[in-house]
Amino acid sequence: MLKLYTWPARGRTPATAAPERQSPMSNAPTEETVLEVEHFTDRLFAFSITRPPSFRFRTGEFIMIGLPKTEDQKRPIMRAYSIASPAWDDKLEFYSIKVEDGPLTSRLQKIGKGDTVLLGRKPVGTLVLDALLPAKRLWMFSTGTGFAPFASLIRDPETYERYDEVIVTHTCREEGELQYSQRLVAALINDPLVGEMVVNEDGSPKLKLITSLTREDHPLTGRITSLLKTGELFEVAGTGPLNKETDRVMICGSKDMIDDTAKMVEGFGLEEGSNSEPKHFVVEKSFVG
Ligand code: A2P
Repeated sequence: MLKLYTWPARGRTPATAAPERQSPMSNAPTEETVLEVEHFTDRLFAFSITRPPSFRFRTGEFIMIGLPKTEDQKRPIMRAYSIASPAWDDKLEFYSIKVEDGPLTSRLQKIGKGDTVLLGRKPVGTLVLDALLPAKRLWMFSTGTGFAPFASLIRDPETYERYDEVIVTHTCREEGELQYSQRLVAALINDPLVGEMVVNEDGSPKLKLITSLTREDHPLTGRITSLLKTGELFEVAGTGPLNKETDRVMICGSKDMIDDTAKMVEGFGLEEGSNSEPKHFVVEKSFVG
């Protein structure tokens, strides 16, 4: 049984710097206001914050996020977060894990509307469209909060201008952890900016979300590495195996997931690219703590 979603039937900022609103030349994080918080499971939540008018980033990049320091802290704790909202949005959205004893997320998970979040000034990252050579199909392989940069990319019209087909995979432990990706993709058909781009003229999907679980029953089960190995992924997607002539890949998840998945992708003959040397695939760790 397969679960394929189709239509109709989603320079780092120095941690030493003190938060402040000040001269535009400063590297210090800016103080932003929490607009919305949504909890999905006891391990995952999403939140959005105000976006300074001067804050520019490329869809798919990450930025340092933190909270104002407490009395016992010398400096605020900052962590890298992929920006989940697209570059055109006037707010910034993030998708985060909750780590009970995590230096940042133990506090961050308790934020509410109106609270202050610190935002770094220098977005960076490799999961950007410019780091890949042109091709027919874009694959985005994610696990857990590794879906965040892809939440940004699938809401960017440029993604659909560059590729004929866009396939996002999201593998999690349990069903509840798929809520964010499933809901976002389902809502895209009604999005005023990309709604018409996620379907082809004949009504077939141009964007596909393929979900799998590893610790609960689901129409598709197993790690992305197993799905690549057995070829089940290509069956579900209705494609042939990865091919460097037609396919490009972005990978985001834990360090082990990235290492293992990148090895498999290389096994299909694809080579890793970067901002300065675009090639066939790019990787990025989803940061936690
Ligand atoms: P598993 O349940 O078999 O560990 P996490 O929440 O720990 O970041 O995991 C998210 C998903 O990534 C889980 O489904 C997990 O599978 C999977 N995963 C963990 N390690 C790897 C890996 N090395 N390669 C591929 N998938 C992985």
